[in-house]
Amino acid sequence: MNLKSYLALIENTEAALSIYSNTASFLYQELPTINWAGFYFLVDKTLHLGPFMGNPACSLININNGVCGKCVRDQKTIVVKNVHEFEGHIACDSASNSEIVIPLFLDSQLIGVLDIDSPVLNRFSDSDKEILEQLVSILMNEIKKATVQITL
Ligand code: SME
Repeated sequence: MNLKSYLALIENTEAALSIYSNTASFLYQELPTINWAGFYFLVDKTLHLGPFMGNPACSLININNGVCGKCVRDQKTIVVKNVHEFEGHIACDSASNSEIVIPLFLDSQLIGVLDIDSPVLNRFSDSDKEILEQLVSILMNEIKKATVQITL
């Protein structure tokens, strides 16, 4: 995955929604052996489904539940080697076997998560975690500069 190409794709984009949408598409195209990549955004204690690529997914996740909820509670990246061994995992796609969830911080406030699923067990290595955290840091830097907030 080339982070320079990623930055070139999203920089100078005006709307945050467009940046998140192209990020989901970029990850889906660039990462081999994944079946879902997308965003959930935090409002009070609920995560709401945002732009994604992959099968339709649950639109609401309480932060007490799932890998995404754990990421919000712990405020750090969660890597799950085998989702079937993770108590409380929310199965949106029965094909998923491993997962990584990375928190999104805007001005040190957690505003949501990036969630990526794979049908391959133990798909996400330490170096995947590192590069995806770098990508999220580039993402949030561009989100800060986005001038258009689309309220639907
Ligand atoms: N598996 C997630 C739910 C979201 S889907 O994977 C798209 C979880 O346990 O939080």
